[in-house]
Amino acid sequence: MERDSSKSDENEKEEEFSDISLRPLDLSDVDDFMVWATDDRVSRFCRWNTYTSKEDAVNYIKNTVIPHPWFKAICIKNRPIGAISVIPNSGEDSCRGEIGYLVASKYWGQGIATKAVKMVASTIFSEWPNLERLEALVDVENPGSQRVLEKAGFQKEGVLRKYCIQKGSTRDMVVLSLLSTDPKL
Ligand SMILES: CC(C)(COP(=O)(O)OP(=O)(O)OC[C@H]1O[C@@H](n2cnc3c(N)ncnc32)[C@H](O)[C@@H]1OP(=O)(O)O)[C@@H](O)C(=O)NCCC(=O)NCCS
Repeated sequence: MERDSSKSDENEKEEEFSDISLRPLDLSDVDDFMVWATDDRVSRFCRWNTYTSKEDAVNYIKNTVIPHPWFKAICIKNRPIGAISVIPNSGEDSCRGEIGYLVASKYWGQGIATKAVKMVASTIFSEWPNLERLEALVDVENPGSQRVLEKAGFQKEGVLRKYCIQKGSTRDMVVLSLLSTDPKL
C-alpha cells in the first residue's frame, strides 16, 4: 500500500508538539545549545553575538544559565530546541519581571514559542507571588516575536523609542505586558 507521507509528517509534528516541555539547561546540553547559538537568524534581535566557539557556550551555561533565577530549555522529547527565561527585579521594581525566549530556526512557525510563553505565564505568578507584571521588550522589526506574546495574552503598551543599543544600532522597542490578573490564553 502507498504511504501518505504528508499525513505521517503531520502526525509526527502533532506528536512532537504535544511533547514540549521546559526544564533546566545544563552543561550536557551544550551541543543542542550550539545549534541555535551559532545561527545568525536566531541572534539577530538578541543582545548576544552569534557564538563561534563551544568553549564560550560552556562558559555561558556555567556562569549565566546555571546560576540564573529562572532559565529553562524549551524541549521536544526532553531535547533542547530553544530557551526561555524570566529576569526578576528587586526592591521597588520587584512587581515586574522580563521574559525572553528563542527557538532554533528549524522549528519556527509551529507555535512552539507561543506554547512555551503560555506555559511560563500559567506558572510564574504562583512561583513568584510578588510578581504582578510579566513584560517583554521586542524590537519593532521583530513582528514574529510580538505576535507570540499577543497570542499568549500580552497587551501591547507602546513603543519605547531609541531605547537600547543592540549590535551598535539604537533600537525602538515595543513593550508588551501580562498582569497576574489578566486572563491567560
Ligand atoms: C520569535 C520566535 C521566538 C518565534 O518562535 P516560533 O516558535 O516560530 O513562534 P510561533 O510559531 O509560536 O508564532 C510565531 C507567530 O509569528 C508570526 N510571524 C512570524 N514571522 C512574522 C513576520 N515577519 N511578520 C508577522 N508575523 C510573523 C507567525 O505567523 C506566527 O503567528 P500565527 O500563529 O498567527 O501565524 C523565533 O522566531 C525566534 O527564536 N527568533 C529569534 C530570537 C528572538 O527574536 N527572540 C525574541 C526576542 S524578543
